[in-house]
Amino acid sequence: MRLVEVSEGATSFLVPENSLEGVPRAGEGVFYNPEMRLNRDLTVLAVRRHVERWGGEVTYLDATAGTGARGVRVAKEAGPNVVLNDRSREAVELVRRNLGHAGLEAEVTRRDANALMSERGFDLIDVDPFGSPAPFLDSAARSVHMHGTLCVTATDTAPLCGAHPSAGRRRYDARPLNGEHEKEVGARLLLGFVARTLARYDRAAAPLLTLYRRHYFRLFLEAERGAGRSDASLENVGYLLHCPSCRRDEFARDVFNDETCGCGENRIYAGPLWTGDIHDAEFLDDLKRIGGETRAPCPGEVEGLLDLTRREAGGPPLYRDFHLTASRAGASPPPMRDFLDELQGRGYVATRTHFDPEAVKTDAPPSVYEEVMAEMSR
Ligand SMILES: C[S@@+](CC[C@H](N)C(=O)[O-])C[C@H]1O[C@@H](n2cnc3c(N)ncnc32)[C@H](O)[C@@H]1O
Ligand SMILES: [Zn+2]
Repeated sequence: MRLVEVSEGATSFLVPENSLEGVPRAGEGVFYNPEMRLNRDLTVLAVRRHVERWGGEVTYLDATAGTGARGVRVAKEAGPNVVLNDRSREAVELVRRNLGHAGLEAEVTRRDANALMSERGFDLIDVDPFGSPAPFLDSAARSVHMHGTLCVTATDTAPLCGAHPSAGRRRYDARPLNGEHEKEVGARLLLGFVARTLARYDRAAAPLLTLYRRHYFRLFLEAERGAGRSDASLENVGYLLHCPSCRRDEFARDVFNDETCGCGENRIYAGPLWTGDIHDAEFLDDLKRIGGETRAPCPGEVEGLLDLTRREAGGPPLYRDFHLTASRAGASPPPMRDFLDELQGRGYVATRTHFDPEAVKTDAPPSVYEEVMAEMSR
C-alpha cells in the first residue's frame, strides 16, 4: 500500500494513494474519502462544542476509524480523550501510524464496533461505516453517556430516498417516499429510526444538525436519558401524508383510514419518520462562533452550510422543487431570489435549503406558490 500525505484542518495524515483516485467500495480495504472532509470539519466543531458545553473528561469514540482521518483530527483539533477503533488489521496499523505522524497518543482498539460499544460507555460516539449505520445503532444507543452526542453517517442514500423501498423497509423498518422532497424525507426517516432505537433503552434524541450531501446523510444528535424524556422525544415520530396530485403535505401521529386528500386524490404515506425540528439553532450558532474564533477548520463551505441550515432551523418542514412549481404553473421561472422575496412580501416564510439548491422551503400552501409563480411570469 503506497501512502501519500494529505492535510485537513490543522492535521496531516497518511492515506492510501489509490483512495485519492476513485469512490470507495465496501470491502476494498482501508480507504480515505476526500469528499467527507466537510463532514469531518463539522465533526471537529461539534466535538469542540461538546467539550466547551459539558467540560470534564470527555471521551470520543471513532467506532469505525478507517485511516483514522476523523479520530486523529478530533484528537488534534478538539482535544478530548479519543478511542479509535476498527476491526481491520490494516486500518488499525494505519491509525497507529497516523497518530504518530500527528505527534499524538490515543487508545487504539481492534474490535468489532458493536462488541466495544456493548462493553464501554462514551460521551461522543461517531458511527461512520460504509453504507447503513443501522447495524451499529443499538449498541451506540446503549453506550452513549448522559448528555452524549451521537454522530451518524449514512451513505445508503438510495434506500432512504426511496430508490430501493424494500431496502428502506429492511434496514429502517420504514417506508420512504421517492419524490419532490425525498432527501429531507430520507433524513427524517433516519432521524426517526435513531429516535426509535434510543427509545428502546429509555433514551431520547434531540437533533442538533441534520445534513444531506451528494453521497451521504450526516446526523448530530444529543442523547438524553430517562423514560419521560424518551416519551417526549417519540412525540416527534410519526408519518408524512403526501398528496401526489395537489402536493399538500401533512404530518400525522398515526395513519389509519386517512388516505384521501381534500382534493379527492388518495394520499401516499412515508414513515415512521421524525416530524419535529431537524436542527438546533443554538448548536448552529455555537458551531459558527467556535469556527470563527479558531479560524480553521471553518472555511467558506462550512460557514455557508451553517448559515443555510440556520435559516432552515425552526422554519417550515420539507421543501418544494422550484422547477416543478414553475412547470405546474405553466410558467418560466423567475430568478429564485425574486420568488423568495415575493413570497416573503406576502407574509410567508421562504428560504433556500441545503437539501437541494433548486428548491424552496416555505409555509405557503401549494396553491399559493403555484399562483405566485404564474403571476410572476406574466
Ligand atoms: C467509511 S470507513 C471509515 C472512514 C473514517 N471514519 C474517515 O472519516 O476516514 C468504514 C470503516 O469501518 C470499518 N468497519 C466496518 N464494520 C465494522 C465493525 N463491525 N466493527 C469495526 N469496524 C468496522 C471498516 O473496516 C472501515 O475501515
Ligand atoms: Zn390533494
